[in-house]
Amino acid sequence: PRVAILFGGRSSEHAVSCVTAAGVMGAIDREKYDVVPIGIAKSGQWVLASGDTSQWSLSSSALPEVAASEKTVTLAEIGGEHQLVVTEPNAVPQELGSVDVVFPLLHGPWGEDGTIQGLLELSDTRYVGAGVLASAVGMDKHFMKVVFEAAGLTVGPYIAVTDREWLTDPEAVRKRVDKLGFPVFVKPARAGSSMGISKVDSLDGLDAAIEEARRHDLKLVIEAGIDGREIECAVLQGRGTDAPRTSMPGEIAVAAGEHQFYDFAAKYVEDGAAALSCPADMPDQDIARVRELAAVAFDAVGAEGLSRVDFFYTPSGDLIINEINTMPGFTPKSMYPQMWAASGLAYGELIDELIHLALT
Ligand code: DAL
Ligand code: MG
Repeated sequence: PRVAILFGGRSSEHAVSCVTAAGVMGAIDREKYDVVPIGIAKSGQWVLASGDTSQWSLSSSALPEVAASEKTVTLAEIGGEHQLVVTEPNAVPQELGSVDVVFPLLHGPWGEDGTIQGLLELSDTRYVGAGVLASAVGMDKHFMKVVFEAAGLTVGPYIAVTDREWLTDPEAVRKRVDKLGFPVFVKPARAGSSMGISKVDSLDGLDAAIEEARRHDLKLVIEAGIDGREIECAVLQGRGTDAPRTSMPGEIAVAAGEHQFYDFAAKYVEDGAAALSCPADMPDQDIARVRELAAVAFDAVGAEGLSRVDFFYTPSGDLIINEINTMPGFTPKSMYPQMWAASGLAYGELIDELIHLALT
């Protein structure tokens, strides 16, 4: 099969997506799949990617980026078939042929949020991962909580703050935050990889944190800090009518002192800042509970293909759901592929399974 790998994109997770794609392109079985790499520049232009991506990393000072190009790639309907077409100024458009499936390895808005999924639905193109609604719900930290609560999952105390609320009555917002109790985490509602997130210990730091988050999204969620261990679980859609499959849960331990929380640098940049233990050191019945709740969360948003579900495990044994990611990272430091590897499914097999699910 011919697989178009889409990466980069317009979101603040552009570089993460590039490293995710580099990982997948390095591991995909080239005997089985014909890979067409398509980068999306920060401007939104689609380009036929070329060159060696194997050295791309997030720890170098120059972050990887899809370069804009004279050659624009579009998905066009030609003779009743969907074809990729390359257009260059003053040149005859060149057909790249059709693809059997698109792997949208895009994180964040305009990629993980239902927008690209909508385009692929419109053009009747198969793709890996969640559909329009599940992607949109999974991107929005407010609506995902609404859906999780309706499915009987426990979410932590939080408030959602809209642009209008903050601009018209900031004092009311401060009062609502004060009621949550400090520390709080101020987050853009629709972003990822901890972009724009600050931990705030008192009202003093609140306004600056809100302004920082608003650079990413004008809608915010502000969450009460939760005393708990960070436990994640990888979910893979079942084959046919099978129930979702879940990995062994993993625990993330962030090195004390260096980072206030599992932030961008701890996630991707600094070696050893965040360690994964998988399976997490928990009683068997709690391991089973994490896996069960992760599958409930997957079904609650109507996910397909894959998701990573993140929880807090409190000292009293409660599991509080933090979030779902419908296109989790596949970088060398990302937890999703590592949890599957620790559960007996190697990176290459995982990619193969995801493409298989999208094609059937
Ligand atoms: N948003 C990043 C890519 C993740 O969840 O892994
Ligand atoms: Mg996320």
